[in-house]
Amino acid sequence: MSRIDEVVSDALEAIHRVLEQHQVTEREWHAALAFLTDVGRADEFILLSDVTRTSVLIDAMSHGDEEGATASDVEGPLYVDDPPWRKKPVRVYEDYEGMGDAEVLFVRGSVTSTDGSPLPDAVIDIWQTGPSGGYDIWDDRQPEFNFRGRWKVEDDAGAYEFQTMLPKPYTVPTEGPVGRYLEAVGQHPWRPAHIHFKVDAPGHQPLVTQVFFPDDPYLENDTIGAVKEALVRPVEPENGHLVCPFDIVMRPAA
Ligand code: BEZ
Ligand code: FE
Repeated sequence: MSRIDEVVSDALEAIHRVLEQHQVTEREWHAALAFLTDVGRADEFILLSDVTRTSVLIDAMSHGDEEGATASDVEGPLYVDDPPWRKKPVRVYEDYEGMGDAEVLFVRGSVTSTDGSPLPDAVIDIWQTGPSGGYDIWDDRQPEFNFRGRWKVEDDAGAYEFQTMLPKPYTVPTEGPVGRYLEAVGQHPWRPAHIHFKVDAPGHQPLVTQVFFPDDPYLENDTIGAVKEALVRPVEPENGHLVCPFDIVMRPAA
């Protein structure tokens, strides 16, 4: 039996068991199929995987407890390909109308391997919401690729720093079929404020992760369940702005 045969036949057995257990009607089954058709049409399968906490399960099984390395986390559906290369000193945003009383945040740390050696050739790629609560792709007031960008570390000690603004909690998209699902099962759509990171370094496993901030009302009940304690980083005031330390430790490629 191939792996696909094994997994699919177990999945079907589980689905059939639940349908029987709940005596699901023909009408209900057709509604479920129509829902999945809508999810496909709306390109929301990643979002569905996220809000059902399936992405978190796959992340945990794929990366588990990688001792000594930075914890990975779910990517989510809101990465945009080919973000701009930012020049040092890196600032990932332009001011925009409606940004409100935003707080400037410097995120800084180093990129090293698990043996402590610096990784100056690492490329950091970040994306996050603006302080008005939305991603650039949802917000006409923001320039394209605002609060997104990548750059090469290019520092002998692997040190990096970028200037951004402290993000705020926001809701995952609710206007499509996944929004209807959340309402139907009584699940709120909020995520705690966070910054997404993708980090690539030669000879190392790529890292996809997120950084969270203390005292966020949704740390304990993120709608996608993706908060890991090790990824909640302190934010301290310094010379009129905020600073968040985040050292990134990469695992050598297997
Ligand atoms: C996000 O953090 O960008 C995200 C993650 C899962 C679903 C929707 C958005
Ligand atoms: Fe996000």
